[in-house]
Amino acid sequence: MNATTVHLQSKDTDIILRTKPYAQLLYWGKPIQHFNQQSIDCLQPAIPNSRLDIDIPFALCPEEAVGNFSTPGLEGHRSGQDWSPHFTTEQVIRDERGVTIIADDIHAQLRLTSRIEFDNNGVLQTQNSLTNLGETPYQVNRLSVTLPLPERAIELMAFNGRWIKEFQSHRTHIDHCGYLQENRRGRTSHEYFPGMVIGTNAFSEQQGEVWGIHLAWSGNHRIQVAVKSNGKRFIQAEALYLAGEIQLAQNETLTTPWLYATYSDQGLNKMSQHFHHFVRQNIIAQMKNKPRPVHLNTWEGIYFDHDPNYIMQMATKAAEIGVERFIIDDGWFGTRDDDWQALGDWYLDRRKYPHGLEPVISHVKSLGLEFGIWVEPEMINKNSDLYRAHPDWLLQLPAYNQPSGRHQYVLDLQNPAVFDYLLERLTWLLGNHDIDYIKWDMNREIVQAGHQGSPAIVGQTESLYRLLDILQQKFPHVEIESCSSGGGRIDYEILKRTQRFWTSDSNDALERQTIQRGMSYFFPPEVMGAHIGGKLCHTTYRQHDINLRGLTALVGHMGVELDPVKASPQEQKEFSHYIQLHKKFRELLHHGNSLRLDVDDPQAMQSYGVVSQDQQHAIFIIAQLKMPTYALSGDLRLTGLRHDLNYRIEVLDMPENINPVNSGHTMKQLPYWMMESTTLSGEWLQNIGLPLPVLDPETAMLFKVSAL
Ligand code: GLA
Repeated sequence: MNATTVHLQSKDTDIILRTKPYAQLLYWGKPIQHFNQQSIDCLQPAIPNSRLDIDIPFALCPEEAVGNFSTPGLEGHRSGQDWSPHFTTEQVIRDERGVTIIADDIHAQLRLTSRIEFDNNGVLQTQNSLTNLGETPYQVNRLSVTLPLPERAIELMAFNGRWIKEFQSHRTHIDHCGYLQENRRGRTSHEYFPGMVIGTNAFSEQQGEVWGIHLAWSGNHRIQVAVKSNGKRFIQAEALYLAGEIQLAQNETLTTPWLYATYSDQGLNKMSQHFHHFVRQNIIAQMKNKPRPVHLNTWEGIYFDHDPNYIMQMATKAAEIGVERFIIDDGWFGTRDDDWQALGDWYLDRRKYPHGLEPVISHVKSLGLEFGIWVEPEMINKNSDLYRAHPDWLLQLPAYNQPSGRHQYVLDLQNPAVFDYLLERLTWLLGNHDIDYIKWDMNREIVQAGHQGSPAIVGQTESLYRLLDILQQKFPHVEIESCSSGGGRIDYEILKRTQRFWTSDSNDALERQTIQRGMSYFFPPEVMGAHIGGKLCHTTYRQHDINLRGLTALVGHMGVELDPVKASPQEQKEFSHYIQLHKKFRELLHHGNSLRLDVDDPQAMQSYGVVSQDQQHAIFIIAQLKMPTYALSGDLRLTGLRHDLNYRIEVLDMPENINPVNSGHTMKQLPYWMMESTTLSGEWLQNIGLPLPVLDPETAMLFKVSAL
């Protein structure tokens, strides 16, 4: 095989690249060991009539210049010139993690550097960089990362959403034009998660081939899946630049966000496992050995009504029910009595805390809990001392009015005075108080992102990263949660600087089932903030028993969101029960392999499980979302277990109305395995499964399987 071919291997996926005369992904799929130069030559396709006379190979950065009619990888110009560059590889550098391919266009005076890494979990990560080698500025409209997909990848699953309804999956067939997703909200967004899955027809959790991608970027993005007229298809992802946003001076370089991608030949579960292992080993490795502490967050308990003596009582009660980290939410600074005012005034509200935060912190610490606090540094209310002193600190186009969002505006983080002010205030907060954790919020979409008149989403996003990087360096022991009106900023790039996501402002367990499932395709459970709220949900006003609320929060990074002082003794007991259950299985939940099981009645039910790495233990949750479609709900086939082992099955938690004596509203008798001590082989459990009980809608149950 000639030296221009690079073969990258992981435990269950391979990649073959061509590096010269341009970078091209030749193969991405199952491991392949037996091939030679002729195999590579054999990739040369037929040339149909009445088209260009040669085959136009599809490079990692497709070019208009060679006769590629799809969206090019790069679009830009030098005052109207150099708009159709053609790059030729000059240098290929191999290293342990992957390959760097440097390609130049000496006429356009541009350099394109493509970096491709491949880890043992089968996750490919790639980014492109463009350097302007010319003396005059080069304007970049678009710079993307492109990966080819096979013709059999015909079905797409993407994620849409909104506030309190994040990560809703939808599916479509990809024909002809394909699919285009644009996020212009200025943050990762609830609306379009920057990730999707393309696969063979009707791929499921266990079946089918899938190619999953995630663009790690917290600003605007564009992702398209396109089908060319020769049937070839590709996925192209990029940070979306506003008009005039990017201009490169001589020797300046623009780099795309990282695109993370993985292939699975066994449906979505294996894809998720690739992503989860990759995140655990590469993105959140630093928190691997510390159990994720159970939270109590004060927001839904007291909102802006802060009284330190009362808050201390809350902490005492929290400790009693098993909480391990106590977080004071919004309302502790400036004159923050409601959400109309004080954002930006990061000084303690002495009316509410006359003796400072210290008494509360010492009390929390004396109970053995960690202490956390809420901030929203990127924002400002017009009703604030900060705005009265510095009206020009806004991210804005001063000639126009812009709408507020939650009565607030965005600060221009590229303004050094703003950046320094925030760094100074956060350093005061974290340096002078014994704080273990901050909940970093960002509660509005960005309109008129103007920095000195120029568009600034990219600069704003990179400045945020820089601020977080500095804080992480200065205060390495402080963990940060990324929150943005719930799940508006969830992506791998922000996760490199944070340890947890606030998944959604909805603590409605029924909504959460879908939201958390959507998020689980890309993120392991230990970064997914999941709280048990009160019986009456504060966002949807639905009511759920503790059983559904508890089992829904159990599987993430668990917390509670309530006023434990007001909770009745019965409620406290219930919260405590699920906290203890979570702690019992936390190690398994946060280090095992998560699975979403394919069920026979997917309209009405979903099931989630976690199997230990050694396949000795597992837990499974069945969540009955709606009335079962049929009188019976079918069988639950468990995956991830060893066929040759026998497993004991033990029901751990059921809806209150179901027990062996009284078997519920819609059942006369429970299935055998729920009444009798049962041992079955992994093979049986996978191929035949367990007959499901008939559960009431909006209830859940938990059982465990243990190898004998
Ligand atoms: C946002 C967050 C909430 C809470 C409030 C406080 O809505 O998502 O969890 O912190 O802000 O104002």
